Amino acid sequence: MATALINISSVPINILILLFILPSACSTNFQIARFDATAANIVYEGDAVPSVGVIELIDKVNYVCRVGRATYAERVPLWDCHAGKAADFTTHFSFIVDTQGAATNGSGFGFFLAPFGFQIPLNSAGGFLGLFNTTTSDFAGNHIVLVEFDSYVNPDWDPAYQHVGINNSIASVVMTPWNVSLHDGDTTDVWISYNATTTSLKCSVELPKYPCFSIGDN
Ligand SMILES: *[C@@H]1O[C@H](CO)[C@@H](O)[C@H](O)[C@H]1NC(C)=O
Ligand SMILES: *[C@@H]1O[C@H](CO)[C@@H](O)[C@H](O)[C@H]1NC(C)=O
Ligand SMILES: *[C@@H]1O[C@H](CO)[C@@H](O)[C@H](O)[C@H]1NC(C)=O
Ligand SMILES: *[C@@H]1O[C@H](CO)[C@@H](O)[C@H](O)[C@H]1NC(C)=O
Ligand SMILES: *[C@@H]1O[C@H](CO)[C@@H](O)[C@H](O)[C@H]1NC(C)=O
Repeated sequence: MATALINISSVPINILILLFILPSACSTNFQIARFDATAANIVYEGDAVPSVGVIELIDKVNYVCRVGRATYAERVPLWDCHAGKAADFTTHFSFIVDTQGAATNGSGFGFFLAPFGFQIPLNSAGGFLGLFNTTTSDFAGNHIVLVEFDSYVNPDWDPAYQHVGINNSIASVVMTPWNVSLHDGDTTDVWISYNATTTSLKCSVELPKYPCFSIGDN
């Protein structure tokens, strides 16, 4: 059982997100074209709020060492009950980072899967993206899968550049450079898919005016 979630932590930027998830066979399908403040299908925590149809993940006034996250309210079974095995899944969402010309970069944000009921850990703001802390950051037993859009280089675990990365900890296993300033204000489209047969996770990113890129397995 898992929940699909989006997290952000202490980023001086606005992020607007549209999300839908399409897990396969006898599991959950949903499509959210507009995040409505009165709808109960998304749980907003920390600084995350629905705003004019999208999710804003930060408080624009107080954004240092903060966390915001939006999660699907129901369990999302990643299980094919007919075949009795793990199910494939696909998700697509769009986001905009608006740096508002800030001179420094915030920590970043990510799409993640975690056990249903997973709470924001204590002391997980900043580079831990609201998902890990010094106790859990390199612990595989987290049962978290993270596709991160990392806009701040943490010398302890990051490569020397901003990146999109995948791992089950704060350090990415596969990654590619991603320059947040270059795509300031642009709508970025992200597709994430999991093939349960090959146990491979793939993330594809489409940016206006730039070539698409993918990380993970084909
Ligand atoms: C990490 O988070 C867990 C869960 O909230 C908590 O039990 C633990 O004390 C935290 N570790 C630190 C160093 O804050
Ligand atoms: C991926 O995460 C695991 C812990 O979940 C960690 O031990 C490993 O170092 C990470 N991989 C890389 C390349 O950083
Ligand atoms: C912020 O990130 C950009 C890349 O998007 C980089 O060129 C710049 O040096 C970074 N600024 C700081 C203060 O780290
Ligand atoms: C990122 O893009 C900005 C804006 O185009 C540019 O000034 C900066 O040098 C780039 N940083 C890196 C590390 O490529
Ligand atoms: C998963 O990978 C297998 C083996 O490459 C392939 O046959 C299958 O079509 C893939 N499933 C999806 C949903 O792409």
